[in-house]
Amino acid sequence: MERQDGLRGAQSHDRAVPAAVAESFRQGWADTNLRLPPVSGAAYAAKRRAAVSARFPGERVVVPAGGLKVRSNDFDYHFRPHSAFLHLTAEQGTQAVPDSVLVFEPTGTGHAVTLFTRPRSPRGGGPHGAELYSDRRHGEFWVGRRRTLAETADALGIEAAARDDLERALHGNVPTRVVRGEDAFIDALVPPDPGRDAELCTLLSELRLVKDEWELEQLRAAVDHTVAGFHDVAGELRHATNLERGERWIEGTFNRRARLEGYGLGFETIAAAGSHACVLHWVRNDGPVRDGDLLLLDAGVEADSCYTGDVTRTLPVSGRFTEAQRRVYDLVFAAQSAGIAALRPGARFGDFHNAAMRVIAEGLDDWGLRPGGDAAHDRALYRRYTVCGTGHMLGLDCHDCASARSEAYLEGVLEPGHVLTVEPGLYFQPDDLTIPEELRGIGVRIEDDFVITADGAHCLSSGLPRSADEVEAWTAASR
Ligand code: GLY
Ligand code: MN
Repeated sequence: MERQDGLRGAQSHDRAVPAAVAESFRQGWADTNLRLPPVSGAAYAAKRRAAVSARFPGERVVVPAGGLKVRSNDFDYHFRPHSAFLHLTAEQGTQAVPDSVLVFEPTGTGHAVTLFTRPRSPRGGGPHGAELYSDRRHGEFWVGRRRTLAETADALGIEAAARDDLERALHGNVPTRVVRGEDAFIDALVPPDPGRDAELCTLLSELRLVKDEWELEQLRAAVDHTVAGFHDVAGELRHATNLERGERWIEGTFNRRARLEGYGLGFETIAAAGSHACVLHWVRNDGPVRDGDLLLLDAGVEADSCYTGDVTRTLPVSGRFTEAQRRVYDLVFAAQSAGIAALRPGARFGDFHNAAMRVIAEGLDDWGLRPGGDAAHDRALYRRYTVCGTGHMLGLDCHDCASARSEAYLEGVLEPGHVLTVEPGLYFQPDDLTIPEELRGIGVRIEDDFVITADGAHCLSSGLPRSADEVEAWTAASR
């Protein structure tokens, strides 16, 4: 039998609710009204929905928020709605309801858009009468009050209906596009149309390339909170050196800021001390933070609207770089500066990467580093030490707009309203025999977030020191 809370196969030791208690739950409640302010981005989201509608006339479009995922037995991971759903609703992380689905139903003139969702747990019985007190995933006494359908419609400016009505709404022989892999019920109900579905994902990604004013406000907030988290960490460096797993202390310090100011993290915090900095996505964070080492912190606060920052700083834990650390830092700094100087509308997306990598390749040549060969002109070999690209679009996803066509992104041209990171790095693995010993185990990345403007680019993360001297002064003072 399926459990009330939908957790098939999960075990718990909740006591059965006697009939008299169930009856008592059905009465004696005052009417309440959730007076939530309307969602601030609702009008912007309406324009995005209009763009989807205009692109797919006569077709049904289905964009699920996704649901809860079991973490362990009857506990779930923190819920984070799918980014396309967030983009088209401007829903806030904390208010978002798992299993919600946005449906564009074609009409003669365009589309009627309905948000199918779970309404507030009913009181007074009915088919979902026990949800209130016995459903540990969705019941109000377990997870808190959701909006009623009317409250949802008011907050988001979208017609709202119960998810129970979804099956009926999706019937009929209407060409349908679905964001797949988010809602197993819909995936089973609506036969896939791979071509149509992929086109939908491409459009939804490309709609996110240019950020509107409201999105820029969200990103500014996310990056400001991220900058605050970095300052928190600088203030905890000394304490972290006293702990066996100082990286975890750094992670926790940043994560506290993320939950305090936003919905959470844009991605798992990378707190990498010593040679862990040579692992691009080091999230085990179980190492010590030692005086004399570098600490690479790559982290982002996700705002309540789920837009995220993504910033990296590499700090000398003692407050002073060694000579070798500074040499690497200065080269990465010069590469990042060259990348930043290449940001402007009309430039190709690849230009800032090429500008940064030219500096890296020439710097490595000057140091006599020619990995795996002796052709100094063969600059691609520098990739042994840089491993990945120099930046990416940033927005609701840290690596935003992932389904955009190559010609609109990687091969595309920068436009005002694009938001992206510039984050060159050098990673000298501790066991790399092609480099001098003093460089082994040094990893440096410097990452900032930029919005392309009418005549250049504006740095959103300029509240953090960037040059070696500034970073030394900041770290030393914070200690
Ligand atoms: N901040 C992680 C990344 O950009 O891959
Ligand atoms: Mn990044």
